[in-house]
Amino acid sequence: MGVEIGVEGLTKSFGHQVIWQDVSLTLPAGEVSVMLGPSGTGKSVFLKTLVGLLKPDRGSIRIAGTDITALREHDLYEVRKLFGVLFQDGALFGSMNLYDNIAFPLREHTRRPESEIRRTVLEKMDMVGLIGAEDKLPGEISGGMRKRAGLARALVLDPEIILFDEPDSGLDPVRVAYLNQLIVDLNAQIDATFLIVTHDIASARQVPDNIGLLFRRELVMFGPREKLLTSEEPVVRQFLGGRMQGPIGMAEEKDAAQVEQELAQLGADADPAPPGVPDLTPRLLPTAGITRPPRWEAIADRESLRQVRASIRGKAAGS
Ligand SMILES: Nc1ncnc2c1ncn2[C@@H]1O[C@H](COP(=O)(O)OP(=O)(O)OP(=O)(O)O)[C@@H](O)[C@H]1O
Ligand SMILES: [Mg+2]
Repeated sequence: MGVEIGVEGLTKSFGHQVIWQDVSLTLPAGEVSVMLGPSGTGKSVFLKTLVGLLKPDRGSIRIAGTDITALREHDLYEVRKLFGVLFQDGALFGSMNLYDNIAFPLREHTRRPESEIRRTVLEKMDMVGLIGAEDKLPGEISGGMRKRAGLARALVLDPEIILFDEPDSGLDPVRVAYLNQLIVDLNAQIDATFLIVTHDIASARQVPDNIGLLFRRELVMFGPREKLLTSEEPVVRQFLGGRMQGPIGMAEEKDAAQVEQELAQLGADADPAPPGVPDLTPRLLPTAGITRPPRWEAIADRESLRQVRASIRGKAAGS
């Protein structure tokens, strides 16, 4: 069923550099959440903190009711078995072939016989389209293949919580489409709790139940997908719209003068996308034949309600 993760008042710094502060959010059990944010805002640091690889300065992380920030290394080791993690760089062992890389968590954490391990490894390799590449070393394959090997490895322990750090970077658009479908199907089948870091706005719009945005050392917003997609908050609109105009600049944040200047250039009615009926991208559905989890009904109702409200707002603004 997946487990809920409750983050409360979380702050992380390295030396004097505060990465983010006072982050609070709940990743609902069994739902898919996406974390967005400009490069360098600490998304990878956030994922590593959730698995207990980095210690926060303050705050708590409750996983199935236990605050993992208070755990000792031995108990953390047990908690980590709940997780499947795809690190940003794939983090494969360079001297091991793909088969052994993917079998590694099973050999490390379980006492299953090799025959059973083999079945699981080949099943996951098939799922990510890597059958035939068992004997390849990570250095001999493309970046996209390494990503998919990392993905297969993240899934072998049938995790309750799955964290993906940019699973789609370095993949071609067709593979990204397959990957998104795989994520939606997997979630419907195993109902684990997913958190995905991505820069791909199209994926962020159609895959998750919830979206969060990190910017300027804060969690600007975290909530249901449709809430962020229809938000008027300038940072959220700029990021989800993939626009240059707005508070976010090339070097993460623009100075106030630059934002003023841009707004002046754009003229009085500056907003390039005035309020109106927002574009609520349809959700990506599980492949036909896969039963949808019960929460899908509730989410569909919630989304249609929001769209009706937005359309009324849009008409009011236009009249
Ligand atoms: N172990 C570490 N020690 C010191 N500083 C670190 C460490 N890990 C990350 N940082 C710093 O924390 C900040 C956030 O890094 P992080 O990798 O989380 O960003 P990100 O949002 O994942 O960026 P990207 O989108 O480019 O992957 C950066 O300034 C980075 O230099
Ligand atoms: Mg990162």
